[in-house]
Amino acid sequence: MPEGPTFAPPTDQSILLPFAGTRREIAEYEAHGGYQSLRKAVGMTGEQLVEEMIASNLRGRGGAGFPAGRKASFLAPGGERYLVINADESEPGTFKDREIILRNPHMLIEGILIYLWMIRGTAAYIYIRGEYHKEAAILEGAIAQAREQGYVGSPLMGTDYVPEVYVHRGAGAYICGEETALLSSLNGDRGQPTAKPPFPAVSGAFKKPTLLNNVETVATVPVILGMGGAAYAGIGTEQSTGTKMFSLSGHVRHPGNYEMPLSATYRDLIEGQGGGLPEGRTLKAFVPGGSSMPILMPNQLDTGLSFEAVVAAGSMAGSGAVIVVDDRTCMVRFALRTAEFYMHESCGKCTPCREGTRWITELLRKQEAGLGSSEEIDLLLDICDRVEGNCLCVLGDACAMPVRSHIRNFRDEFEEHARLGRCPCPDDAPMSELYPPLLRAPLPMVAAT
Ligand SMILES: Cc1cc2nc3c(=O)[nH]c(=O)nc-3n(C[C@H](O)[C@H](O)[C@H](O)COP(=O)(O)O)c2cc1C
Repeated sequence: MPEGPTFAPPTDQSILLPFAGTRREIAEYEAHGGYQSLRKAVGMTGEQLVEEMIASNLRGRGGAGFPAGRKASFLAPGGERYLVINADESEPGTFKDREIILRNPHMLIEGILIYLWMIRGTAAYIYIRGEYHKEAAILEGAIAQAREQGYVGSPLMGTDYVPEVYVHRGAGAYICGEETALLSSLNGDRGQPTAKPPFPAVSGAFKKPTLLNNVETVATVPVILGMGGAAYAGIGTEQSTGTKMFSLSGHVRHPGNYEMPLSATYRDLIEGQGGGLPEGRTLKAFVPGGSSMPILMPNQLDTGLSFEAVVAAGSMAGSGAVIVVDDRTCMVRFALRTAEFYMHESCGKCTPCREGTRWITELLRKQEAGLGSSEEIDLLLDICDRVEGNCLCVLGDACAMPVRSHIRNFRDEFEEHARLGRCPCPDDAPMSELYPPLLRAPLPMVAAT
């Protein structure tokens, strides 16, 4: 995970300007107009706020890109209801929510308070990834400051509504980023997905209607209210409005988080902001939206960053984690590393995911060691087909989709492993720059037939 100041300087298209600075103290945040959008929101009804969100056409930043205004409109008015913020951020390559929390926690808290007022929520829970110790402490500190200023725990700005915000720490399971697993964990049950329906809007936190959104989605709301939904919708593309944070990593000169208008392209991000690949290396492939997404190829660099452009290119924008892969990388080893992660994180509740991710991993291990065969490459594709779309949640798909795309785009490299009986790539091929070492637990190498 890159350290230090990783934000690009704001460009004239950069609208989430506070993201570009560090405003951890509430006084500093207020001095830059902080909590003014909340003041504006309190002068509006919940319905008007939902309308503003719909006008902005903001799409959720957690992965699926679901329209945030429409999601908010699903919550029927009245009664006990909750807001849950997804700060689990465990998809390999994704580190944007962390940076928002580290640098601008009040932007998130202001967004939460606007959302709470909009739905007249009983309370908000920020479900934060277990490993984010420092980030959780920063959030606790920021909430305490907001409490002192009377934004939290007191009647809100002359109204009789009292918002409450709590931080709830997870225990480090990737699956708890999936919304139903997150809610199960928050409810004190085992953190595993549940079938939908019921959807969280009907039965979520404490079995009550719940609105669940990603950190970045909610942190964007003060900006939307500040500039107006329609003006926000004027940035980006028609179907993917505004700007979005992209976590850029891998074989790139300047890894880090960059805020880009959604009308920009991967070339703008990788070559423009990221400075391209290190000297002497060329692009072999890139992951457009987190490790679970199918890879894209160098001739697709001009693909737009918008949700619709990435789908048209054969992948998905996901969480906005872009991983650059250079020519020295063994794509079989990269596929294996990805599959290992999903096998390790499969919660085991449904059979296609539990068995499928393990089987894919075992076959890839054989393949990478040069012990596989051409038939087993086809078998791998067959297993990917059987996993995808057949699991309780999309964790199984998250394993199958990238592996299938590695094989489709680099079949020759897979075949070469089988033909030579070993990995043809140099031992020092730069995997560690793609992901930190993940899984070293012994896995028996067995024939998969
Ligand atoms: C296995 C899995 C892991 C996920 N992890 C996260 C996560 O860490 N953070 C997140 O915001 N969404 C994650 N999601 C997506 C959530 O289920 C949910 O769609 C999202 O939080 C909704 O927020 P949004 O509408 O603001 O995008 C994950 C989904 C799956 C299937």
